[in-house]
Amino acid sequence: MAGARILVVGGAGYIGAHMVLALLTAGHEVLVLDDLSQGNPDLLPGGELIRGDLGDRDLLDTLFARNRIDAVMHFAAHAQVGESVREPLKYWENNVARTVALLQAMVGRGVARFLFSSSAAVYGEPEQTPIVESHPCRPTNPYGRTKLAVERLLAECDKAYGLRYMSLRYFNAAGADPDGRLGERHRPETHLIPLVLDAARSGEPVRIFGTSYPTPDGTCVRDFVHVSDLAQAHLLALEALLNGSGSGVYNLGSSQGHSVREVIALAGQVTGRPIEAVEADPRPGDPAVLVAGSDRARTELGWRPRWEDLATIIETAWAWHLKDADRRDARTV
Ligand code: UFG
Repeated sequence: MAGARILVVGGAGYIGAHMVLALLTAGHEVLVLDDLSQGNPDLLPGGELIRGDLGDRDLLDTLFARNRIDAVMHFAAHAQVGESVREPLKYWENNVARTVALLQAMVGRGVARFLFSSSAAVYGEPEQTPIVESHPCRPTNPYGRTKLAVERLLAECDKAYGLRYMSLRYFNAAGADPDGRLGERHRPETHLIPLVLDAARSGEPVRIFGTSYPTPDGTCVRDFVHVSDLAQAHLLALEALLNGSGSGVYNLGSSQGHSVREVIALAGQVTGRPIEAVEADPRPGDPAVLVAGSDRARTELGWRPRWEDLATIIETAWAWHLKDADRRDARTV
């Protein structure tokens, strides 16, 4: 199905921009709402950019009054676990209060389809792995609690207003557009793979946050999922909603766990560069193991990830990292 009109909130960010690219490639029309506090307008692959705040009701009311919108995709969250522990109010304000404003504006204008970037962080410490969607949700940090709060609100909005939603619980989004058009660029960067690649490029050491976790090598285990595969899962979830499907909650991951040490070793092989790692204290709020069971997305949405292998994910990230580092260096000369 092509030709739908989609509002992508946070479309200038890392996952949002890959989503915009996938939507445009699939023949949809895209409006992007982004305040550019973290997004990169130069990475936006197309669509119309409206610079603004997702909590601005006047702006939202005008936007929905002037544009027929078939569905809203929401990527505009703060997403750093450690920062959320230090600054919970910032997270509840942005991730929950502003999302309430967005939903109010949608419901007020009869826009009834919503795709939400949720997170593995809603589960907290797993009781069993892989984590399936029916696993209890007991988030261990404010970030995860804000994502869970929105999920619960969405279930209430479904019952009360007929809002149909898809909540997509990502595990660790990683990699870059395999054709090299886009990639990850956060300010500041806190994610493991780009930091490891930066260490490969610069020769500076990368820190390992915690080496005494109850895992085979003592470092945290994560499930890395390619950002373009995430975007494809959203496209399938969007099509399901446009075809009249009810609301759903889906894990998006590869079902494979890799430890922090394994990621560093594999990045060394992919880049062909030595990567120095130093041991550091654990980061507050980090669960030891997060690995997804994502059979539901495969069975119900027909999701077929194409770039599941971690070496491939790192290769795409490395190609982008070198290209973007050259651009950054050129700008600072
Ligand atoms: N890590 C290091 N050194 C670093 C950076 C990270 O050892 O320099 C470790 C972290 O402690 C963690 C793992 O690498 O164990 C992955 O860390 P990331 O910051 O890359 O990712 P997170 O697992 O913390 O976060 C991701 C998403 C969140 C999501 C979360 C689920 O970015 O949005 O998974 O908990 F909520």
